[in-house]
Amino acid sequence: MELTMVVATTLNGKITQGDKSGSSWTSKEDSEFLNKIEKQNNLIIMGSKTFEISYDLLHLPTSDKLHVIVTRNKAKYSDYQKEGGFEFTDKNPQDIIDNLVMRGYKKGLLLGGSEIYTLFISNNLVDNLYITIEPKIFGSGKSILENLPLNVQLKLEEMQKINTQGTILLKYKVITDSILQKQEIPLG
Ligand SMILES: NC(=O)c1ccc[n+]([C@@H]2O[C@H](COP(=O)([O-])OP(=O)(O)OC[C@H]3O[C@@H](n4cnc5c(N)ncnc54)[C@H](OP(=O)(O)O)[C@@H]3O)[C@@H](O)[C@H]2O)c1
Repeated sequence: MELTMVVATTLNGKITQGDKSGSSWTSKEDSEFLNKIEKQNNLIIMGSKTFEISYDLLHLPTSDKLHVIVTRNKAKYSDYQKEGGFEFTDKNPQDIIDNLVMRGYKKGLLLGGSEIYTLFISNNLVDNLYITIEPKIFGSGKSILENLPLNVQLKLEEMQKINTQGTILLKYKVITDSILQKQEIPLG
């Protein structure tokens, strides 16, 4: 299955503005891009924290896609659980992908946040990366990835300036195994 990670970041690699959750700081053009790529995919994987802040914001209740939400606490989300709609899982990332492949999914989006990007990329399950670089610097906030000894090799495939402010959209392919010290990285 082809998994595409989608992230919006500041120039210095922050995906949140300090302690604030949500992406109100990203450009209109990035939101448009996110809407467009979501329309092209019927599978979205995200962490429970991103799910919580996106549920109302992204009109998730009316979405017809499969959302796989990674959590260690499935019981907490039992009211939202809906087979084929919102599925909460505590499986390790490889098992999540294997299950989706078995069910016929061929591609999907990995929408974050940091913990879930790190979990999938460190297990070498990300094939493509769309990264929107907003022309901003935040002194604090969550980084794209958590602090792990990764060494991910990428190849630039597309590059586009999407507004006059200078927001840049890049598409990369992940070209090699990324894991330097796999034994130190928890799977689930
Ligand atoms: N700029 C962007 O592109 C972008 C994209 C996405 C999100 N964000 C922002 O990022 C923030 C959220 O990121 P985050 O890193 O804090 O949270 P997250 O990755 O969205 O979710 C973290 C949660 O995932 C679950 N989890 C993590 N590792 C797990 C494992 N090994 N097994 C099972 N479950 C696991 C845990 O859920 P439980 O606690 O339920 O057990 C954990 O609390 C939000 O502020 C959001 O707005 C920004």
